[in-house]
Amino acid sequence: MAVTVTSMKKMKADKDKITWLTAYDYSFGALADAQGVDAILVGDSLGMVMQGHETPIPVSIEDSCYHTQCVARGASNSMIVGDLPFGSYQMNKEQAYENAVKLMQAGAHTVKLEGGELQVETIKFLVERGIAVCAHIGLTPQSVHQLGGFKVQGRGVAAKQLLEDALGVEQAGAFAVVLEAVPQTLAQEITDRLSIPTIGIGAGPACDGQVLVLQDMLGIYPKKSPKFSKNYMEGAGSVQEAVSNYVAEVKQGVFPTEQHSFN
Ligand code: KIV
Repeated sequence: MAVTVTSMKKMKADKDKITWLTAYDYSFGALADAQGVDAILVGDSLGMVMQGHETPIPVSIEDSCYHTQCVARGASNSMIVGDLPFGSYQMNKEQAYENAVKLMQAGAHTVKLEGGELQVETIKFLVERGIAVCAHIGLTPQSVHQLGGFKVQGRGVAAKQLLEDALGVEQAGAFAVVLEAVPQTLAQEITDRLSIPTIGIGAGPACDGQVLVLQDMLGIYPKKSPKFSKNYMEGAGSVQEAVSNYVAEVKQGVFPTEQHSFN
């Protein structure tokens, strides 16, 4: 059965862990879908893992739409989340709407954008116009230069702002929020306070769901993979088995462990 924002919210209520995985093409979209991944994120991580850049900053809305179209042809049950790339939504809410429409016309069911309280007006604007939005807070890779690197966020006094960001995007109507590279206790608090699902990546086991970058979890990204990822090809006989093991480990609460989390 197709995964929707409604079924995802119910999964949180039922404490049924939610699985997200990135994919950028038809074959991997079909593979992730066949292995029961709840949502396929056509992430702007494509800038790194598909295009070989150091950051997602060079990714254009045309790139995102192209990869979304490819994935959409392969997936039938998974929710497809299209990522709004750097510069495609920050100018004003009208710009965000125009580009979110492009992603949805390319086959995305929902869109993701980076930012918390600062994006509240944009999220409201999109939601009021029928677009389901996932927010992404914590380590927001499009702001990597402003953040001073790919670093853990929300430690110490910054925790309060991150909690406010999470509450703000929920209030604005976001259907889910990605928490990237944040201390696990903070992710737990945010998860407990929100009624919408939290999807963690480097945010510990308490999140309602998990997301990984496909190339990291297959161990095929030539550069260093982050601490919070796990190579599921180790011990697997096929790519299908690796993805199926990831889904099973998230569902059973086996992944992530302390080793993949931050304090
Ligand atoms: O672009 C992406 O793959 C992402 C995930 C890291 C959450 O935003």
